[in-house]
Amino acid sequence: MTNTTGLIFLGPPGSGKGTQASLIAQLYHIPHISTGEILREAIANQTPLGKQAQPYMDAGNLVPEELVLGLVKERLSQPDTEKGWILDGFPRTVPQAVFLDKLLEETPSTSERVLNLDVPDEAIIERLLLRGRKDDTEATIRRRLDVYREQTAPLIDYYRDRGSLHHINGNRSPAEVTEALKQAMVNF
Ligand code: AP5
Repeated sequence: MTNTTGLIFLGPPGSGKGTQASLIAQLYHIPHISTGEILREAIANQTPLGKQAQPYMDAGNLVPEELVLGLVKERLSQPDTEKGWILDGFPRTVPQAVFLDKLLEETPSTSERVLNLDVPDEAIIERLLLRGRKDDTEATIRRRLDVYREQTAPLIDYYRDRGSLHHINGNRSPAEVTEALKQAMVNF
């Protein structure tokens, strides 16, 4: 039986999950699975999923669980995930983490490691206002930060309790964050 490591990138909006997940995915030749990107693509293509997700995303709220669980299950069943994968933006709630646990029970050779990027709110707001995505207005960023604290931050305890959590200081240059991530991965 081969051992597969799945990486979960956790952290508040704007902490650099997407930037770093993309780099690490290229370095290790594993797919970068971003639920936010999948949903934005669905919106761009005006699919039924996109049309349902759009109002939630524009407001900075999480889209309903039933819209994301199926797409993650489907994506993790693709053959390119056999050597590993990076999830960016999922899980985002405790029920999503429980769903992922059940999914991974079906592939006992896969274990997960969680990399949590820590960045203070002021740095996040500055970064996201500079980027200017549709959901990067100051009011929506603040809403996303509230949603993160209420619904996603509890995952830090969830994964800490099982010993698979690594904290990374994300408030430094992207290259320094990448180095820290690579170092953490050496010590898995
Ligand atoms: P999602 O796309 O996941 O957005 P997010 O979590 O808000 O994250 P961001 O993309 O804003 O930030 P990031 O941490 O990836 O940082 P990035 O590398 O981009 O989700 C969007 C929406 O989709 C949600 O609000 C929700 O509605 C919905 N959704 C998605 N998944 C869901 C789920 N599982 N359940 C329910 N709903 C879901 O960097 C941000 C900026 O900072 C960039 O401009 C970048 O260049 C810059 N930057 C990166 N690193 C650094 C650095 N070290 N120093 C300076 N600048 C940096």
